[in-house]
Amino acid sequence: MENIRNFIICAHIDHGKSTLADRFLELTGTIPKTKMREQFLDSMELERGRGITIKMHPVRMDYALNLKPYTLNLIDTPGHVDFNYEVSRSLAAVEGAVLLVDATKGIQAQTLANLELAQKQNLVIIPAVNKIDSPQARTAETKTDLAKLLNIPEKEVFEISAKYGTNVEKLLQAVIEKIPCPSRSSGFVEGGLRALIFDSKYDSFKGVIAYVRVVDGEISPGDKIYLIQTKTKGEAKEVGYFKPELVATGELKAGEIGYIATGIKEPEKVRVGETITKISNLNVEPLPGYQTPKPMVFASIYPESPDDFDALKTALAKLKLNDASLSFEPEMKEALGRGFRCGFLGTLHAEIVSERLRREFGLDLVVSNPSVVYKIINKKEKETFVYSPSDWPEAAGIKEAREPWVKIEIMTPTSYLGEVSELLKNSEGNLIETKYFTQDRLLLIYEVPLRKIIIGFYDNLKGRTQGFASMNYELLSWRPGDLVRLEILIAGRREEAFSKIVSEKDAFSEGKRMVERLKEILPAQLFSVPLQAAISGKIAARETIKAKRRDVIAPLYGGDYSRKRKLLEKQKKGKKELKEKGRIQIPSKVFLEMFKST
Ligand code: GTP
Repeated sequence: MENIRNFIICAHIDHGKSTLADRFLELTGTIPKTKMREQFLDSMELERGRGITIKMHPVRMDYALNLKPYTLNLIDTPGHVDFNYEVSRSLAAVEGAVLLVDATKGIQAQTLANLELAQKQNLVIIPAVNKIDSPQARTAETKTDLAKLLNIPEKEVFEISAKYGTNVEKLLQAVIEKIPCPSRSSGFVEGGLRALIFDSKYDSFKGVIAYVRVVDGEISPGDKIYLIQTKTKGEAKEVGYFKPELVATGELKAGEIGYIATGIKEPEKVRVGETITKISNLNVEPLPGYQTPKPMVFASIYPESPDDFDALKTALAKLKLNDASLSFEPEMKEALGRGFRCGFLGTLHAEIVSERLRREFGLDLVVSNPSVVYKIINKKEKETFVYSPSDWPEAAGIKEAREPWVKIEIMTPTSYLGEVSELLKNSEGNLIETKYFTQDRLLLIYEVPLRKIIIGFYDNLKGRTQGFASMNYELLSWRPGDLVRLEILIAGRREEAFSKIVSEKDAFSEGKRMVERLKEILPAQLFSVPLQAAISGKIAARETIKAKRRDVIAPLYGGDYSRKRKLLEKQKKGKKELKEKGRIQIPSKVFLEMFKST
């Protein structure tokens, strides 16, 4: 164990984590320079396309310091708040972290959140200021801030350029010198295996491949295994490590990071945070910190063409194999046909899944606005969860409606305080604390309903602060809210896809806004179409789209009045019939527009 170092790089999005990982891979000869491409570990097309890390990417590197060989295990982790739980399990798999801060941006909300998570795991932290080559770099200032934050002398903060490799080797050597080697865990049981799962991927031959940190004991191919939380049996078909591709080996030992091909074919049984042990010795405690996956944000996904329903189903099932936190259930909406109600960890996760469905599976989709999960307590004190506005009960049946609240931390330059405060006020936020982080930067802590920050909030914050503010949030608790269902009726029919849950005080203005917007974008029909917004079943706002008159008499020139009248009569009758049938075809681009405009 003594020559092993396990670490991660913690950074706010875009501060240079993947670029620094590239330099480490080059320096250690893990990837020859000729094969190197930018952000090597971000292997998924979408990750490379958008320049974000979505999956965990572990890699083993070999490096000699003072002639002594070391094995360095780095886990590249996603920087986004949606994946906080997954990241927390990666932190539990290592002993140290490089805390990277972009010198052009300074410390951001996610830097603080990551630091807090790392400190909770008692990790050794090595601070580094990145992008010192950039003309916009405020290196000295960032260094001072970072030293203050960690309560250490400034000289302990590294100054690097991940892009050009400046001081990167020194940083790698510090990883070896400052981060301790893995040690025996306090829950160690003689002969017992405990391996912590921090990610997984599906393989149709070997079953789910669990990415693990072996905490205690050792494991070899052929060992019969047991997953403590989901009570699932399996067999280690293969064990090995990451180069970053999978390299099979004869044994994985305590302190090492690697993979176990479990032979298990159900991905939902192999969860992040789970403990793998051996059937031959079940006398071990599960590792701490495990949580069952809890999607908090839901959205409906429909194929634009009903013929693609089966293709969508297959695609979702395929994505789920490598993404256990995605959930989906079939649902049916009159205007949209058959589709799925999907559960996500957050909005970025929802966006990633829909983008992958489009890119990797070539599907044209209508994706509804995300909404949160609600808890309803009925008059008999029974609790139910509502995942879709269409399942919201009648007002008379609700004793109390509760919704998830989050603690949101926003880091902003002082000059934007007014803008940020106004945004939070509009988002029903309560200010908890204002901290002067540095002279010109503030950390604002608010409590807000999750409902208010899942749509457009982040873009709004960035827009109001010219991109300077950053945010992070964590779930707090369920709280009662004055919530109602807002419904949209088109030609007297409720259009389920537009229903949403809103706070009572916003219901009227939101309903009005929606019918006005619909009036602009819904194509006119041959008859007039009333658009109504209903709050808890009562009509609150109305607009009408005037009938589009087809000029049925245009082809007739001159006199013959009775012919004209006959045609007009016929048209009127036809319109009446149409209206009675009441069905108007809503083009899917209207749904797309409506979802976009909220
Ligand atoms: P996520 O994966 O989204 O969390 O981002 P990341 O932290 O991995 O950042 P990434 O390595 O993708 O870098 C973000 C951008 O900063 C890229 O355009 C890099 O080329 C650039 N960058 C990274 N390091 C440096 C540096 O040292 N100097 C300069 N000038 N640019 C850098």
